[in-house]
Amino acid sequence: MERIIKGFTLQKYVPLRRFGADVKHNPLLPMKIIRTTQSRLSQVDFANLGFGSGLADHAFYAEFADGSWDEGRIEPYGPLKQGLALHALHYGQAVFEGQKAYRQADGGIAIFRPLDNAKRLNRSGERMMIPALPERLFIDGLDALIAVDQEWVPRGANQSLYLRPFLFGSSEFITARPSEEYTFGIVTSPSGELYTKPVRVKVERHFTRATSGGVGFAKAAGNYGGAFLATREAVQQGYQQVLWTDHHNHDYFEEAGTMNVAFVVRETLITPALSDRILAGLTRDSILTLCREWGIAVEERPIAVAEIVDAAKAGELNEAFGMGTAAVVSPIEAFGMDDELHQVPVPEDGIAVRVRAALADIRYGRAEDRHGWMHRVAL
Ligand code: COI
Repeated sequence: MERIIKGFTLQKYVPLRRFGADVKHNPLLPMKIIRTTQSRLSQVDFANLGFGSGLADHAFYAEFADGSWDEGRIEPYGPLKQGLALHALHYGQAVFEGQKAYRQADGGIAIFRPLDNAKRLNRSGERMMIPALPERLFIDGLDALIAVDQEWVPRGANQSLYLRPFLFGSSEFITARPSEEYTFGIVTSPSGELYTKPVRVKVERHFTRATSGGVGFAKAAGNYGGAFLATREAVQQGYQQVLWTDHHNHDYFEEAGTMNVAFVVRETLITPALSDRILAGLTRDSILTLCREWGIAVEERPIAVAEIVDAAKAGELNEAFGMGTAAVVSPIEAFGMDDELHQVPVPEDGIAVRVRAALADIRYGRAEDRHGWMHRVAL
């Protein structure tokens, strides 16, 4: 599938009809691949992977200019070439995705629901006036990059290659108007899980993450930057994360800092209904799908903070957990509000444990993929 020409590796285009054609991207052009001559792979301590700190050898780049995307290229990971007027740094036209590639039981590699990530990236981009990225370019870029860095996909339990596709305005001017050029990048990082034990969350009732009509549903870079201050205060108070509440009166739960949130009250799984203030998590969606299939009562609706406090006091709050790509399924052992800490059971045979195991079996290729969630990477 690859041939070497004058120091470059050219990868022949492999049609992926599933992803449809797009007039603004000519997939017949070959993707240029320049491989590093100084791999950092041997420096990675795969037995002690944290989350997201080390980056794999290569990165994928594609550029948008004059109304169309180029064919994309892979290069050794390295610095950008733009100057300090880089548009995204000034006006925040930057959106991203979080995904994972999993080492399969048979040694292959598969990505979880990549087309859904491509669609969500474009929904985020649309809100930030970033031109749509062809879904095929997104998938081809991931496939080619993972194939080049396949040895970076870990083999250990609960490990994966975290994938970070992102889009940003890459013109160089400081007039306050949308960028004219855009860059699509993918970097990857061999990772363990974000939280390795149950977390304590602070119910945030001062800071606000998102407002109606705003960009809360988008995976916009600034949504995360805007959360750092509240998160630091929570961490200083002994928590790992904030649990955001609504922008009106802080009476209703929204989502947690790096994940969607669910509660199990009596036998029912409840989670805040999606809105333009909440990220439509794919892990959330997958978990709700599995739970409904298992016959668990699932409710997506507004959840008052008072309802959960009352349930906790009455002994009816049986579980709470976060759901996200990085966070996977993270049990919440306590939530703090108004100087009161409410303990939450973390049952060993609870919904969080069951759903986490079921998702892992699908993701690592140990169980049948009945939903068509896994996309196998051609190696
Ligand atoms: C993810 O779960 O992929 C995220 O993007 C959350 C966080 C690590 C920023």
